[in-house]
Amino acid sequence: MVFSHLPPDWQLPESRATDESLFWNRRRLLKTLVGAGIGAAVSPLLQSCQRQDGAIAIAPSSPAAPPPPTNLQAPFLGVERNRAFADPGRSLTEKRIANSYNNFYEFGGTKDIAQRAQRLPTDPWTVEVGGLVKNPRTYDRDDLYKTFPIEERIYRFRCVEAWAMVVPWLGFPMHKLIAAADPLPSAKFVRFTSYYDKDVTMGPGWSLGRLPWPYTEGLRLDEMANELAFFALGVYGEPLPKQHGAPIRAVLPWKYGFKGAKSIVKVEFLDNQPATFWNTLAANEYGFEANVEPEVPHPRWSQATERLMGPGPAIAWQRVPTLPYNGYGDYVAGLYGV
Ligand code: MTE
Repeated sequence: MVFSHLPPDWQLPESRATDESLFWNRRRLLKTLVGAGIGAAVSPLLQSCQRQDGAIAIAPSSPAAPPPPTNLQAPFLGVERNRAFADPGRSLTEKRIANSYNNFYEFGGTKDIAQRAQRLPTDPWTVEVGGLVKNPRTYDRDDLYKTFPIEERIYRFRCVEAWAMVVPWLGFPMHKLIAAADPLPSAKFVRFTSYYDKDVTMGPGWSLGRLPWPYTEGLRLDEMANELAFFALGVYGEPLPKQHGAPIRAVLPWKYGFKGAKSIVKVEFLDNQPATFWNTLAANEYGFEANVEPEVPHPRWSQATERLMGPGPAIAWQRVPTLPYNGYGDYVAGLYGV
């Protein structure tokens, strides 16, 4: 993989930016897929959530510092942090880091898409809520801010590729939208659809056109109703930057990061489990449920530990044990009969 568009100090070979074993396993799989003629469609998956960050210093382990207060900016002035989600037990990831390593495949298959994502047109924006509900409604940006009480929550975030961070989101729990939409008894699932317009997102050299766009994700309705399931409108005290999925994205901290669809334009209540983006591409690697489960390895790597982005302005990784449900078992284990 060549990062010709990155500044020189980012141009590390992939083998240095990821675990060596993961890198070589990936390469082997890619070779096999290409040999089988399906590499072009699946290869972007091999990078899912992988951050080509550079310095891989191991951070000295330190007790988690209490998260610093976020400097709230308009339109979040006066918004309060939910005390139940104020102490993630880990230090907050530096804003600069979280805002510049992103997965947003609509804008390319690398992690440095922040600049390209600025072409996402977010004003005006509407989210259509419909399907099996009594109150279908289309919300514009202002409606979202006016209709739902906004709060701040600091959540741990765990990528399927075993890196992790800690992020202060601003938004509202999904159950507020369920209450407003009032689903019919037949509604058992929800599908989130992300913005997609190939003329906007695809630029010259964009090569992921064969993927099953638009990006979609889904949940069971009882998962969506769980207290943790969250729609984010902001992060680090500010409206979501485009690369994070402006103006509204899903955040599901007990699941792997790919479940959190960005830049949502449609929320549909359904009676059947919807097809979803990564699951359509590789169901054995990206299950529909996708809960964080340390004892269930990904087909190509262990999930027993994760690389936590260190605090501070320099990237550092600290290897820590993965927690079942990413540490949120008290909230969600009951959903899965545990
Ligand atoms: N949503 C859309 N529309 N497109 C994407 O490519 N990537 C997913 C998820 N949501 C993705 C998406 C993946 S794989 C991850 S890990 C997270 O977004 C990354 O979120 P972040 O860039 O804000 O950290």
